[in-house]
Amino acid sequence: MKVLVTGSAGFIGFHLSKLLLEKGITVIGIDGMTDYYDIKLKEDRNKILESYDHFTFHRNMLSDTEKIIEIVKKNNVDTIVHLAAQAGVRYSIENPKSYIDSNIYGSFSILEVARICSIEHLLCASTSSVYGSNVDMPFIENQRTDSQLTIYSATKKSMESMCHAYSDLWKIPITVFRFFTVYGPWGRPDMALFKFVRSALNNESIDVYNNGNMFRDFTYVKDLVEAIRLLSSVPPSEEMESDGYFLSPYRIINIGNSTKVKLNDFIQAIEKKLDLKIKKNFMEMQKGDVHATWADCSELENLIGFKPSIKVEEGISEFIDWYKEYYSN
Ligand SMILES: NC(=O)c1ccc[n+]([C@@H]2O[C@H](COP(=O)([O-])OP(=O)(O)OC[C@H]3O[C@@H](n4cnc5c(N)ncnc54)[C@H](O)[C@@H]3O)[C@@H](O)[C@H]2O)c1
Repeated sequence: MKVLVTGSAGFIGFHLSKLLLEKGITVIGIDGMTDYYDIKLKEDRNKILESYDHFTFHRNMLSDTEKIIEIVKKNNVDTIVHLAAQAGVRYSIENPKSYIDSNIYGSFSILEVARICSIEHLLCASTSSVYGSNVDMPFIENQRTDSQLTIYSATKKSMESMCHAYSDLWKIPITVFRFFTVYGPWGRPDMALFKFVRSALNNESIDVYNNGNMFRDFTYVKDLVEAIRLLSSVPPSEEMESDGYFLSPYRIINIGNSTKVKLNDFIQAIEKKLDLKIKKNFMEMQKGDVHATWADCSELENLIGFKPSIKVEEGISEFIDWYKEYYSN
């Protein structure tokens, strides 16, 4: 297997690439190194990946279709894991255009690469936020998803639809995964755990939305990338229904921890590990936020016999150990 990972210098792309490299798989990483957050963090992740001799990196934007086709052909890539995106729910309220560029146009570019290069399996990252204002929990893949609350989730839903169309038209096996709040070492500075720990260690207060009365299905990154690795070797196939109609080789899979954790309990776990009390500004619910997310992962478990299970106390502890070490240098 030869895998191209888009967004390889990003939080999840880094962990996935590292896991695949450790398993002896050749990885070609591409990343545009966008400045949405500290580029040094991306460069430091990339340095670790570049220490493996079966890793090669190309600094490219997703829109550079011709260049990516050349890379894929030259390296005989058979599998693409498409993680590069403009991430972040809240930033999409301030800067919606960058979501259209990376998540719609950029994903279209990767679909074209997959079609032109006859990729055997394309795996694309979507998000739990496509479930939008749904209140039926836990979220299950065949639930209706037509009530997105932000441009971020709307662009991810558009990507899902384009993936289905390409899978049907060109018979490209495509897996779309919906991630649920991923956290862990080398995490994103715009996400809650990073912000809370940074503020706590600087003796600053944190903003706690909806008075902490929100729930998230927190997924530890080590569990998440193991699920992606296992999914990469089970591409969906075209199936004939009893009425003779063919279903496209396409599937959507939730990857979450199948547990919902209250934000206040998450903060308490951070306080316990740091052995301090964090100063809090209790705030109202933010525009575009959802009250809860919670994944049904039975389909994932049926497919690969594995589902995430690492508890937040353990994941938070590993994140804080990494954070202290990384920022002590
Ligand atoms: N982290 C989470 O909790 C979470 C939850 C749901 C979904 N996701 C999805 O998982 C994927 C990975 O997220 P992450 O947390 O690792 O984010 P990240 O921002 O750390 O990584 C994304 C990477 O993509 C690159 N990139 C962005 N736009 C690009 C473009 N147009 N061309 C080339 N490179 C570009 C960035 O430089 C970055 O390194 C994203 O698709 C995101 O939407 C993440």
